[in-house]
Amino acid sequence: MCGIVGYSGPQNPKDVIMGGLKSLEYRGYDSAGVAILHKGEFKRVRAEGKLSILQEKLINEPFDGHLGIGHTRWATHGAPVERNAHPHTVKGVSIVHNGIIENYLELREELARDAKARGQVIRFESETDTELVAHLIAYQLEITKGLLESVLKILPRLNGAFSILVVSKDHPDEMIAFKNGPPLIIGQAKGAVVVASDVQAILPHTNKVVYIDDFEIAHVKGESFRIYNSKGEPIVKPVVEIDWSADRVEKEGYPHFMLKEIFEQPRAVARALAPHIDVAKQTVSLSGTGITDAQWARVERVLIVACGTSNYAGMVGKYLIEIMARVPVETDIASEFRYRQPVMGADTLAIVISQSGETADTLAVLRQLKTLGVPSLSVCNVKNSTIDREADGHLYMNSGTEIGVASTKAFTSTIALMNVLALQIAKAKGRLSPEDEARYVNALLAAPAQMETVLACDKFFAAAADVLKNYKGFLYMGRGVSYPLALEGALKLKELAYMHAEGYAAGEMKHGPLALIDKRMAVVMLAPSDNLYEKTLSNLEEAKARGGVIIALGTVGNERLRGISQSYLTLPRAEWNVNPLLEAVPLQLLAYHVASALGHDVDQPRNLAKSVTVE
Ligand code: AGP
Repeated sequence: MCGIVGYSGPQNPKDVIMGGLKSLEYRGYDSAGVAILHKGEFKRVRAEGKLSILQEKLINEPFDGHLGIGHTRWATHGAPVERNAHPHTVKGVSIVHNGIIENYLELREELARDAKARGQVIRFESETDTELVAHLIAYQLEITKGLLESVLKILPRLNGAFSILVVSKDHPDEMIAFKNGPPLIIGQAKGAVVVASDVQAILPHTNKVVYIDDFEIAHVKGESFRIYNSKGEPIVKPVVEIDWSADRVEKEGYPHFMLKEIFEQPRAVARALAPHIDVAKQTVSLSGTGITDAQWARVERVLIVACGTSNYAGMVGKYLIEIMARVPVETDIASEFRYRQPVMGADTLAIVISQSGETADTLAVLRQLKTLGVPSLSVCNVKNSTIDREADGHLYMNSGTEIGVASTKAFTSTIALMNVLALQIAKAKGRLSPEDEARYVNALLAAPAQMETVLACDKFFAAAADVLKNYKGFLYMGRGVSYPLALEGALKLKELAYMHAEGYAAGEMKHGPLALIDKRMAVVMLAPSDNLYEKTLSNLEEAKARGGVIIALGTVGNERLRGISQSYLTLPRAEWNVNPLLEAVPLQLLAYHVASALGHDVDQPRNLAKSVTVE
């Protein structure tokens, strides 16, 4: 949530900051702003709406200085209008902030009281929690005169999650960066320093970075920086050399990143599987992940925690692990798990899934599990993200950067990894015969090519979207491993098309949701030919009998299903463990095309952000 960039160096800060914000726009896009040194002052330019609007405003704005900060916002406090856009400036102090200051009202009252005692009145220009921090620093600066000293004074007073950059006109070659929670990374380039919420914004300038930890403060002066602990003592931090270059973030001819990412899935799944499969031997292995063979064998229980789409990928994992490895699996959404006083032990392996590796609730759960002594394995797409760095073991989606806010390729890559995990645990427990292992491995190896064929559904949904967009709602149904896919299909439609959609276990329909069905309700039925196919078919008949318009996804050659449905889309014949990978593709395409037909911004759906770093 919110992207922040700071730059101190010889280039025009406007170009560096706007370039950085562009790569951070996935974090929020309801308003944006910069404060850049010009004629001894930090000139502030802000705009409501997408970054492109700020870009326009900046075209003819000159800046003669070499220091500046920028922000792209996902609103928490105050409407997404220009007066609430960052930077916030008070008495020459400008700040950008990602996160939430939980005690801002209390601090605001305290500040107003102190000011009144001095015969002053404090005026707030915005409804944000952020502006308060600018006031606090400006107030401290009057006393301490030092920017670092001022931040050290106020830092212990702030509660909540925040990463903040500060500049001041009285200290025109300094910038302060500090955080508690959301990520903040600082890079030392040649003669320049770049600070940002995500390494993507730094990589065009340097691959040598330092990850700032909670309650540490980076003090940038000119072309270099030092890090201090919360007592103001200088500390030495490891410099991490990022071994990947700035990912290409071009649409490569696709109208949207999301469509490009949907089409990238066969490759992404192959990349996720590759490090863990021995093709010649037809075996899987999860060595080198940080979890030892002995630990795998000791696993008596698995806990999978995540949010949103990652949670649904984890639910697929539950079916896979329980069926293949006969180990009980519990799944939960992180925001619930963290407050429900869970009962855990060291025989549990906790798997935390997060594409971004920064989701606040998932990170909080990981930290909680550490205090309970539960070993953890992270499944992330972003290497060196906070969750990746803090977990005991690590698995990577290897999907490449996912720009579309709605997750697609990270979802299917995670499902591929859930398969590998299930096979690994089954093997370590002596519950997987070599024949079964080879069968599952071959099914997984065939999956990318099968996904390729399912991409042909693109044409169907492109043509059908104009009709589909007029339905009053969508019900998605599935059983077994297809049940989490029904949930994910509904989530995709909600987040992109802003339409009412619900995912249900098909067998649960008659316990309530069947009442929703009439001829204006589209029913998306996931009915691959697996052991639950006949049962799913009965549920489909029930929905049809109530007038629902049936769109069925079924295994090729299944004429009975074709007969029942208005639209029948075929999936290649596959092992049951691969069906979720095949089902995901048409569900994503359905949501993509309906949203496009409605004229929505599919890459940046309203009110959402790619990296959810607040609770
Ligand atoms: C996916 O389409 C959503 N934007 C959202 O549900 C997302 O999956 C969720 O916020 C979790 O993110 P993470 O994987 O980065 O932790």
